[in-house]
Amino acid sequence: MKIAMIGTGYVGLVSGVCFAEFGFTVACVDKNPAIVKRLQAGEVTIFEPGLDELLARNARDGRLTFTTELAETVAEADVIFVAVGTPSRRGDGEADLQYIHAAADEIAAAMKPNAVVVIKSTVVVGTNADVRDRIAKARPGVPFSMVSNPEFLREGSAVEDFLRPDRVVVGVHDDAGAAAMKRVYRPLYLRETPMIVTTLENAEIIKYAANAFLAMKVTFINEVADLCEKSGGNVQDVARAIGMDNRIGSKFLHAGPGFGGSCFPKDTRAYAATGRKMNAPQTLIEQVVTVNEQRKRSMAERIVQAAKRSGAKSVAVLGIAFKPNTDDIRESPALDIVPALQSAGLAVRAHDPEARSAAEQVLTGVTWCKSAYDAIEGAGITVLLTEWNAYRSLNLKTVSQLMSGNILFDLRNVFNEQELEGSGLEYYSVGRPLSCGRSRVKSDP
Ligand code: NAD
Ligand code: UGA
Repeated sequence: MKIAMIGTGYVGLVSGVCFAEFGFTVACVDKNPAIVKRLQAGEVTIFEPGLDELLARNARDGRLTFTTELAETVAEADVIFVAVGTPSRRGDGEADLQYIHAAADEIAAAMKPNAVVVIKSTVVVGTNADVRDRIAKARPGVPFSMVSNPEFLREGSAVEDFLRPDRVVVGVHDDAGAAAMKRVYRPLYLRETPMIVTTLENAEIIKYAANAFLAMKVTFINEVADLCEKSGGNVQDVARAIGMDNRIGSKFLHAGPGFGGSCFPKDTRAYAATGRKMNAPQTLIEQVVTVNEQRKRSMAERIVQAAKRSGAKSVAVLGIAFKPNTDDIRESPALDIVPALQSAGLAVRAHDPEARSAAEQVLTGVTWCKSAYDAIEGAGITVLLTEWNAYRSLNLKTVSQLMSGNILFDLRNVFNEQELEGSGLEYYSVGRPLSCGRSRVKSDP
């Protein structure tokens, strides 16, 4: 079976490499020649743990190739996956389907009869049916199957998530499409991964509902954190206890500076927009979008107020990526918080283990530092924004000695009382009113 993967971003590249690992012949297509050139040279274009090794092995064994030639690749493929971007449309938050439509038109022109076209990108309900009509119109009389196969991988653990998913969801409209998906995912089936075979519409809604629910869970615990701060509670204790209820579950209950990334923000906006458009208001998710935006602003405001109070003139920001183990900065809280600090007249020194080159393109006026300690040196305030492992092992006494001031904002609740003991830091975390030793440990400035 020959697979074509259209789009070699975070999802397309990981999926293409993993399908090759399953033993299929995979040709990955991207319209960006610079990306393809690097991939052809064996260079991994995104930071994703474990991906480089799998890519090298499968390319070396001849199962995995990269090209810009969509038509000739599609013409030979039995199954064509579409993993192009579906960003937010400016203004109304709806998903911009232009890349899906452009890819569908190119696929329609080139596909062989009985090809299976699979949309892996996250697309709003009705898109697969529309794309099926679009292709059928372009190639009347040519049989093909349309499949919706949303992807649930997370950045930073994408390879592991792809190879060991909780479930695989496939929306189909004919038996041939379902059979092709069973073949493609057979290695996971052998590991007893559940496969949900459903309608195109259900598969589309499942994807958005899953992301919307998870984003809502994060937003919920962030508001619980606010209440803890005002009342003397500890959000980590509360999250742990409520998470023990199997009906709630312990995951996605880490309070922080608000969710970011290439998916939760755009997908919650698109889901809410779909609800409005279809006269089925998704009021909870509308609120999630608003509350999350406000949260990022309020985090910046906390830091600005602390700077005013303490006379700090500079801030060290640790972590720009929206989460650890990725170089992705799309809609990262840092992209709101850093400019807000700068607008308040604060100089920003920043460090991120992997996201610096992406961040340099969009954040101006920042002093980029080679290490966390380098960023911290001379700073009045230090802000931990992304919980990279490298930051967990910082020696807080050294941090305190290097800084010109002594305020540490830990917006990911990484540090504990023992680590802070004797550091002399004035410590603010999220939803945790701790007190420890001689350090002042607070949660609400
Ligand atoms: P991305 O922006 O990283 O990559 C998209 C790639 O598609 C780009 O390299 C672009 O050049 C290429 N492309 C666009 N049009 C093309 C065309 N006509 N022919 C060939 N290549 C083309 O996007 P991503 O983060 O991988 O997301 C892709 C989709 O998967 C989105 O719908 C997203 O919501 C969904 N998704 C993403 C993740 C994630 O963790 N990033 C997880 C699950 C689902
Ligand atoms: C998310 C989903 O988890 C994936 O299942 C989905 O496939 C993907 O979106 C997508 O559709 O693209 P991802 O964005 O890579 O994956 O990362 P997450 O781990 O979900 O984190 C998203 C954001 O929420 C991050 O900013 C993270 O810091 C934040 N978060 C997450 C919290 O603040 N607290 C938590 O407890 C969990």
